[in-house]
Order: sequence, then structure tokens, then C-alpha cells
Amino acid sequence: MRMIVRDARLYAGDGEVAPGRADVLVEDGRIARVVPYEEPPPGTDGDAGTGPGTDALAEARTDARTRVVDAHGALLAPPFVEPHIHLDTALTAGEPRWNASGTLWEGIACWSERKETLTREDVVDRATEVLRWQAAQGVLHVRTHCDVTDGRLLALDALAEVRDRVRDVIGLQIVAFPQEGIRSFPDGERLMTEAVRRGADVVGAIPHFEDTREDGVESLRFAFALAEREGLRVDAHCDEIDDEQSRFVEVLATLALRSGLRGRATASHTTAMGSYNGAYSYKLQRILARSGISLVCNPFANLGLQGRFDAYPRRRGLTQVKEMLAAGVNVAFGHDDVMDPWNPLGTGSPLQTALTGVYAAQLTGTDEIATAFAMVTDRAARVLGLGEEYGIAEGRPANFVLLPAGSPFDAVRRQVRPRYVVARGRVVAETPYQATRLDWPGEEGEMIDFVRRRDAAAWQRL
Ligand code: FE2
Repeated sequence: MRMIVRDARLYAGDGEVAPGRADVLVEDGRIARVVPYEEPPPGTDGDAGTGPGTDALAEARTDARTRVVDAHGALLAPPFVEPHIHLDTALTAGEPRWNASGTLWEGIACWSERKETLTREDVVDRATEVLRWQAAQGVLHVRTHCDVTDGRLLALDALAEVRDRVRDVIGLQIVAFPQEGIRSFPDGERLMTEAVRRGADVVGAIPHFEDTREDGVESLRFAFALAEREGLRVDAHCDEIDDEQSRFVEVLATLALRSGLRGRATASHTTAMGSYNGAYSYKLQRILARSGISLVCNPFANLGLQGRFDAYPRRRGLTQVKEMLAAGVNVAFGHDDVMDPWNPLGTGSPLQTALTGVYAAQLTGTDEIATAFAMVTDRAARVLGLGEEYGIAEGRPANFVLLPAGSPFDAVRRQVRPRYVVARGRVVAETPYQATRLDWPGEEGEMIDFVRRRDAAAWQRL
């Protein structure tokens, strides 16, 4: 199947938009051509463009099977990337009980009870449901953590089944995540090794949850050794606690730097960083930048969970997003939990995550808001190590979203749903544009999603 997207603004990465507009030709699931768009001569029906590459485009357009989409200047971006979610726990909020204190620790206790009742169908059903929600919102790459502190490894097997089932639409990575510890949970090391043997893509850890600091350090050493041996990446839940003494991120970064996993390791959450003093933070920036590790900040869960033991003043309890970006560290935003013991809300929306991240991390400068878009697209893709498989360029897989927005800033502000989501050259989701009929003093008409009236026409035609 062939497809042409005409007259699109192209997302160029890190919040930037490429100059001009482009036509994108899709063939056999790949992006075949990207050529500058040129306005058709006046009086034509728009099919008589004369720009470079029009031969290929004109030929494709005469093929009745070619789908032609006129973007009217809308933003064509590579798909959203979810760098951190927990599909095995998703949609279990209130089962068997609600997390009354709202703390991370009671959440873990609730989940520990719910885990006993897991079945394969239960996990497959809930995980698939959330992935459907994400695909409809343009998320086509997902890294899920999966609790492997369960002697049966039932959720892991179930998620591996889901990974196979959805692979034509979503690329799913599964992290072997030891929710109750590697050293502190009976048989933890064996379960991690077995999880990798059964097909986990990434090695996890949770050093701050281990019984002692020494156990935490040892658990990271174990995770890196396992990942190195198996050729995998590392993504640890790291320092997700308000304790300023929790400093495992320096251990993780140093292990990454000294092992063969430089640039292939991620520290998720790192909320203790929100309590570190200035002198230590400065030292840490240098280690993190040199190590090439990524950080994933999860604003929903951690705004909800952190600071629960504080009186006032109460800490925000998030990692140092702004400072680490400035230091050259790759930082992404993750959704983390969706309707589970740690977050009762959530729809899997990457733009909700980005918007919440903007406020949580005070990224309110115009460039910073565009960066927040990058943190749920190309910066998150770096966490997953997608490399040349990701982005709008000739020869790459035709995975993209067409957003009814003029810029990444606009997409974050208006929380737009993609008009089209394309996976491997196939339209997998379409959301027709909806206008609100507004009866307003002195006039009556349509209101388009918080766009000034002078700009609304383009999105109405999309
Ligand atoms: Fe998490």
C-alpha cells in the first residue's frame, strides 16, 4: 500500500520543526521519499506540484490504491514513545483495596496482595487494553516494567505473549523489574536470570528498596553483570524515595561508565535528587553527563507519591529535570502507572504526561515546552535505543503521527489527538476533527479546540 502525506510540517527532533513544508511518500511500510512541498499553481486542483521528486509522487498519486492525505501544514512527527509504564499492574486500582495513605510503600503492599490473584488472561486483557489506548493516541513504542518477584513469572509470560500479538502496531520492550528486590526477595537473583531467559528485553533493579545500602549496590552490580552477559540494556527504578541519603544513581552511572553499557542504561524516577544539596547535585551532573545514562521522570506518580511523609514545607519530590537537561543528560517523561495502586487516574496519554511534566519540572519557557514534547518522542526513543528505526527520514519505517497542531508547543498546549496514526505504512488510528458549536453573544459558530479563530480553518480541513 502506498500513501502520500502532502504539505506537512516535519518534526526535526528535540522540539524543533524543519523549515518549510514537505511531502512524504510511503511505500511497503517504509518512508520512500521526503521532498519539499511546493504550492500548486493557482487554478489547479492541487495535483500539479512541480517540486523535486514530483515524478515519483505524481506516479504514486495516479495509482488508485494510493491514499493521499493533505496535511494543510499540520505537524508530522515520529510516534510518541512511552519510556516507562507498568502494564502488569495497570487497571488494578482498588483491587483488593485502595491505597489509603497514597504512599509508594502502601502501593507496593496493595500490589503484593493483588499479585496473588493474577492469571494469564487477567494480565493479557489489562495490558492489551492500555496499549490500545496508547496506540489510539499515537504511542507506537512502549517500554513496560514487569514485576518478576513472583515465583511463577506469570505476568512476564503474559506480557511476552502481548508483545508478540501487538508487534505489527507497537514495539514493546519488557523490563524484568524486581518490585520487591533482587537481594531482599527470596530467590531474587534466580528470578531475574530466569526472566531474562524467558525473554525480558531489559534488566531492571530497585536498589533503594533493598534492605541495606550494600544490598542496593550489590543488586546494581548484579543487574549490570546480567545485562552485559546477555547483551541487554539496564533500566532501574532508582532512588524513588524522598531520602536525600539515597544515592544509587551515582552507582548506576559509574557502573554504566565503567562497563560496556555506556549509553545503554537508564535511571528511572530518581526522585531523591529533588532533595540533594547543591554541592552534591553539581558533582552528580558531571558523573551523569559522562556516563551517557538517561533519566526518566514520571510526573504523575511522583507528584502523587512523594512528599507524603513531609509536613510543610513539602517537597515536590521529583528528579532534577531542568538542571540535568542543562548538563546535557538525556531526560524523558514517562506515564508510569495507569489506574493502579500508585496512580488512580490515567489514560496512557503522552501529551498529558508532557503537560504535567511542564508544570512539575517548571519547564515553562517556550523552548522548554517544546523540549517536553521531545521528552515523549525522540528523547524517549533514545531511552529505548531505537536508533535508525525512529524518525521521519527516507528508508526508515513509516511510523508517524499527523497532529492537528502547528508546532510541538501547540501540541502540548492544546493536548491534541493525532488525526492519523500510521504504523509500518498502515493507518491504525484516525480521529476525525471535532468542532464545538458555540452560541456566543452576537454570533453563533464553531469553536475549534482552543485555536484562535483566524487559525482554525487549517485544522478544520485536515
Ligand atoms: Fe515505575
